[in-house]
Amino acid sequence: MFGALRPLLFRLDPETAHGLTLTALSALPHGRGPAQDPLLETRFAGLAFPSPIGLAAGFDKDARAWRQMLGLGFGFVEVGTLTPRPQGGNPRPRIFRLAEDEAVINRLGFNNGGLADALPRLAPHGRLGVNVGANKDSTDRIADYAAGVRAVAGKAAWITLNISSPNTPGLRGLQGDALPELLAAAAEARGDSGPPLLLKVAPDLDDAQIDAIAAACLDSRLSGLIVSNTTLARPPELRSRHRAEAGGLSGQPLFQPSTEILKAFARRLGPRLPLIGAGGVATAEQAYAKIRAGASAVQLYTALVYHGPRLPARIAAGLSLLLRRDGFQSIADAVGVDIEKSPRA
Ligand SMILES: Cc1cc2nc3c(=O)[nH]c(=O)nc-3n(C[C@H](O)[C@H](O)[C@H](O)COP(=O)(O)O)c2cc1C
Repeated sequence: MFGALRPLLFRLDPETAHGLTLTALSALPHGRGPAQDPLLETRFAGLAFPSPIGLAAGFDKDARAWRQMLGLGFGFVEVGTLTPRPQGGNPRPRIFRLAEDEAVINRLGFNNGGLADALPRLAPHGRLGVNVGANKDSTDRIADYAAGVRAVAGKAAWITLNISSPNTPGLRGLQGDALPELLAAAAEARGDSGPPLLLKVAPDLDDAQIDAIAAACLDSRLSGLIVSNTTLARPPELRSRHRAEAGGLSGQPLFQPSTEILKAFARRLGPRLPLIGAGGVATAEQAYAKIRAGASAVQLYTALVYHGPRLPARIAAGLSLLLRRDGFQSIADAVGVDIEKSPRA
């Protein structure tokens, strides 16, 4: 079905195609979810997922189709980024397919209907997480994160603080000196009985920044890290005519650099703080590589654009074979086994 639809979808502007896909998905009955396979069960920050293959934030920003995405076989789904107030984002066009590179560049700028609009579509569910951010024109960004945490705490199995979008000017600055204050404010807003808090970081970090972020995370009440968001880098091998567009690059060219940054965090944090690996996962081998690099679970988005809705089930089945081939009894057994082999840090 996707094979037949793909050429039609690819003739449309990417944002229009995405909107149609979401509308169609939200009208579908919920599918069966991931196939049961004890080898693929994973635990993360006190949560239990039947598969380590998750949907990354940004696909379902306004929480319109999360049940259907779970039904497609994702082990967990993260909706958002949601900001306190609705915002339109940057002018269109603002999503570009780099088909030759199996990549996407986006500069959406947190377009979303706002927390209050999305809340009625959320429901407590052990595999649904919510990603929160700050409004572009906010005068107190840390207060925006605290407001997001307070608003969704009763309806999210985990909450992700997204400080790594490259498309809100200055947002990534929160990865610097202000990080301890942000983490403290978010933990206070969450309270003692709220869901685990995760932090989502950029791949564009040097060793000193990674050191500082890791130290701030260990010093906080954070429960885990997502590594990583899109990159501002433009690898020289990009071929598409859209390669010079401004925004964050995702998909295949992000796989290697985001996996290196994942290893750098794993070396500093594992096993004290669990990690989710994101960036360029399109195959079982790539999901396996993220796990071996230190991730307890992975997330993907861009590969769905190129490979369609059967992808999460396909990756899960392939991953199970790879784990079995190498004699692992569980995902946990494979987490981080490649870390010592990395040349970085
Ligand atoms: C069109 C688009 C929109 C995105 N929007 C968000 C977002 O709102 N919040 C967020 O945390 N990440 C967002 N991301 C980043 C993804 O969640 C993910 O971290 C990144 O794309 C790397 O994974 P991938 O290579 O599998 O796409 C977005 C990515 C894309 C392609």
